[in-house]
Amino acid sequence: MSQPFTKAISLRYDELSGQECCLSCGGAINFADIKPGFRCADLGSGKGFDVLKMATLAGSDGFAWGIDVSEAMMETARENARKLNLYNTAFVKSELENIDLPDESLDLVLSNCTINHSLDQSKVWKEIFRILKPGGTFVVSDIFSLAEVPEEFRNSPDSVAECWAGAVTKDQYFKNINDSGFRKIELIEESKPYIKGKVNVCSFTVKGVKDI
Ligand SMILES: C[S@@+](CC[C@H](N)C(=O)[O-])C[C@H]1O[C@@H](n2cnc3c(N)ncnc32)[C@H](O)[C@@H]1O
Repeated sequence: MSQPFTKAISLRYDELSGQECCLSCGGAINFADIKPGFRCADLGSGKGFDVLKMATLAGSDGFAWGIDVSEAMMETARENARKLNLYNTAFVKSELENIDLPDESLDLVLSNCTINHSLDQSKVWKEIFRILKPGGTFVVSDIFSLAEVPEEFRNSPDSVAECWAGAVTKDQYFKNINDSGFRKIELIEESKPYIKGKVNVCSFTVKGVKDI
């Protein structure tokens, strides 16, 4: 992703890293069937709460990575892991379009309210397909826009960092997932439309499995 966008995202989330309130779009973690021994990653892990849940459920034979671009978010997440004595976690600074994890290494990829920040979401989905093992699952909560977001907002790093201007339409979202190679895809929940920033969006959760 180009530097002004990454910078705006890091700045916004560095500032939010000390705040208590939640930044989620849906209940992705509630639909992830995490088993002992699972190797999992949360893309856009923020303060790390979903990583901590995954690590707890995956147990000492499993592992949970958090992927984020905000140093301050990752530091808060590491501190939260230390407080809970969870040592089967790591927080890796990496952009979603180029995830610093090996091919076919994960049983589960989770993401909540993050993929909409990417201007190349098809690449993010190809990365999710790449890092999942055959038979592995993704569960993603995010937003889609009801109509295409006007260029003036899409080209604004601050508006994209505010978690709305990077949104794509539902058709485009599912096309990206399909084109990356996933065939078994299920829409689990979808909100009524609401206004976010200057566009109409819906929140939703989608789950899929990489064919064996
Ligand atoms: C809205 S917050 C959601 C945090 C967490 N998933 C939650 O539900 O509370 C989005 C997070 O994704 C990170 N992020 C946004 N765009 C990213 C990108 N392109 N690559 C990696 N991380 C990104 C931000 O730094 C931030 O921590």
